Amino acid sequence: MYFLAIETSCDETAAAVFTDEPRVLANVIASQTDLHARFGGVVPEVAARAHLRQLLPVIDESLRRAGIGIRDIGAVAVHHKPGLVGALLVGVSAAKALALALGVPLLAVNHVHAHVYACRLAAGRDIFPCVGFVVSGGHTVLFDCRTALDFSVLGTTRDDAAGEAFDKVASILGLPFPGGPAIEREALVGNPAAYRFPRSRLEPDSLDFSFSGLKTAVLYAMAGQDRQMPAEPPTGQRRADLAASFQAAVVDVLVHKARAALRTTGYSTLAIGGGVAANQSLRRALEEMCAAESAAFLTAPPEYCTDNAAMAALAVEHWKQGQFAPPDLDAEPNLI
Ligand code: KG4
Ligand code: ZN
Repeated sequence: MYFLAIETSCDETAAAVFTDEPRVLANVIASQTDLHARFGGVVPEVAARAHLRQLLPVIDESLRRAGIGIRDIGAVAVHHKPGLVGALLVGVSAAKALALALGVPLLAVNHVHAHVYACRLAAGRDIFPCVGFVVSGGHTVLFDCRTALDFSVLGTTRDDAAGEAFDKVASILGLPFPGGPAIEREALVGNPAAYRFPRSRLEPDSLDFSFSGLKTAVLYAMAGQDRQMPAEPPTGQRRADLAASFQAAVVDVLVHKARAALRTTGYSTLAIGGGVAANQSLRRALEEMCAAESAAFLTAPPEYCTDNAAMAALAVEHWKQGQFAPPDLDAEPNLI
């Protein structure tokens, strides 16, 4: 049984082919990063138009790499939420049309849940129940994952997502978009203790996040005592120190809340996904925390962490339960 999956929730146009094991046979991603870089962020209308141009060639390429034809597909899966609605609509429309034309079931997959499922895919075995942690450009969410299909939110961001904070601070520091990898590179030669940025923990029992204050703190640190913003972004060691200190503050908060989620649920597995999960410093810190908590730390290789369609293999679980999507499936911008 072959599944074709489509992802167009943000700025990656992606298609994947997997079996019902699930085993991934092809994972094709056409990034739009270059299109958006000059705007310093993803422009929704530009993203939707690029998906329109790229999606069919990307699907063709995924079938070619899997070594199968379109008629071999037994079900079509699509990330239908959450995301940029215009971008999602391109994938949802294509998936509905394909499922209808081929006469096969349509499966609707939650993109953020799929980020957690990427860990299940990489592990090659059942990982539930676990704490699921999605840290991306659009989301910072801790889930109680009872089964692959039964997730509830333990905590989420009240303002910026962690990846968004990386992108905004990178822009403040004059680093390129996307900001996460740029800050991580810069931080390698910086001193994480050079600036003591705030660690927002909110109420003592809260598993929610807030990153907007941290962004403002970086701005103030650049402005110095006189509160005058420099005309040019910082360079050299100062920029590296700001990047390293910012990254350390984000990592501290993420690790603190993930530990609290493990203790609250009593689970002994943490599964992390999303673009920010590609950050090595975060991975190391979470790994150490999990070891101290006697919990297993699960993540996925970087190509399954950033946006992709392979993680939509969560569709296999829906398929096994007979949870098919209606032919009038719609794109939905929100997580819940
Ligand atoms: O999951 P993703 O590809 O797309 C969304 O669904 O948002 O995540 C993209 C986000 C961007 O904000 C990017 O700056 C961040 O992930 N990111 C990183 C790293 N690689 C990507 N953040 C920190 N360190 C990285 N190495
Ligand atoms: Zn994502």
